[in-house]
Amino acid sequence: MAKRTIVKMPGDGIGKVVLEETIRVLEAAGFEADYVEGDIGWEFWCKEGNPLPQRTLDLLEEHKIGLFGAITSKPKDEAATELIPELQDKGLVYSSPIVGLRQHFGLDICMRPCRTYKGNPLNFIRRGPNDTIQEPEIDAIIFRQNTEGLYGGVEWSNPSDTVYHALMTHPKFVKNFGKTPREEISVSTRIFTKKATERILRAAFNYANDNGYKSVTLCEKPNVIRETSGMMYKMAQQIQKADFPKIELWNTNIDAQMMWLTKNPENYGVIVAGNMFGDIVSDGFAGLIGGLGFASSAQMNPDSGLAVFEPTHGSAPKYADYDTSIVNPIAMVVSACAMLDFIGEKELAEKIGKATAEVIAEGKVRTYDMMKMTGRPDVIKKGAASTQQMADAIIAKLA
Ligand code: NAI
Ligand code: MG
Repeated sequence: MAKRTIVKMPGDGIGKVVLEETIRVLEAAGFEADYVEGDIGWEFWCKEGNPLPQRTLDLLEEHKIGLFGAITSKPKDEAATELIPELQDKGLVYSSPIVGLRQHFGLDICMRPCRTYKGNPLNFIRRGPNDTIQEPEIDAIIFRQNTEGLYGGVEWSNPSDTVYHALMTHPKFVKNFGKTPREEISVSTRIFTKKATERILRAAFNYANDNGYKSVTLCEKPNVIRETSGMMYKMAQQIQKADFPKIELWNTNIDAQMMWLTKNPENYGVIVAGNMFGDIVSDGFAGLIGGLGFASSAQMNPDSGLAVFEPTHGSAPKYADYDTSIVNPIAMVVSACAMLDFIGEKELAEKIGKATAEVIAEGKVRTYDMMKMTGRPDVIKKGAASTQQMADAIIAKLA
């Protein structure tokens, strides 16, 4: 197979260290690739007024595969004050480069697997009959629509005449908000398109079909959010009936789902949702399998084949400058395995996945989060493994 070029985007804070350690694991496993570095994140916002420079978009366009650490985001007013003096007063407005990346490349399919690792001390447990302790095995994967909905960025505070008058054509707006002064109103829209909704639904059903899952759970709120969630539910029913009659369609409301996942998470497999509810429910499931140190994600555009793989955690700035890094690299390692899978390196993906599972099951090397410690520099002295030591332990199991 021709050598791949991977666009590595460390970003900010702990994104840098988890990516570096993950590349070390990939190399030790025998993955042969060239890496080019894509600039992204806070540094480039401050220096250039753009956290996602065009040159990074060009690299991704050319090489198609990105491995991404994490970035730091701040509210737009705070962001403006951190620009270098030459860029102040230029009217630059900060927006998240992650959302920018998704929208620019149409990375509308986001997959977030949440699967139990045996022996992980952070696994969800519950009380069973007669006060027994049960540790159900979770095998869920969340398909999140990644470009639309509440994160679509169509929003206003103190809306203009045109927007305000359009809103005033809706009887519920008149009744509920018509007397509120306009400058006291902020509006964030939730726009779903049929095309994108169909794509995420089909991605979920196809995955269920190809991987032996018996059901797909739509996690929205169609009884209240009638237009967007309602459309998604109707389309899910049509797609299931026409093309996936053997797979059951379950319909849960996001609020109830958050409750159910703390009771019987093992009942769920493939879950599909719009952007924000997908974000919420995937964090909920991630909490059951060990939290941010374990939660991986892939986002892709199946038409162009462009895909970016990243842990779901952020840049955790408070841990970024430790002399010895304490954060857990597993979420990034597992994201890299999803990348290997995607580009057809299935054996390598399995090899690294197996090595990671063995380290967790053995329990000799655990980062601070796995030891339920508060993150502080002295966790290393208290027996927690550093980021590097965790990567070393995975590498040692590759042999
Ligand atoms: P965060 O995910 O960076 O950190 C929250 C907490 O989770 C940390 O303080 C730490 O206790 C724990 N944590 C995170 N990653 C860990 C790891 N690998 N190992 C062990 N513990 C880990 O979220 P927070 O603090 O809300 O945001 C920090 C910055 O990251 C913000 O600027 C935010 O905008 C940004 N962010 C970026 C994301 C991305 O790049 N995809 C996603 C979420 C937040
Ligand atoms: Mg999230």
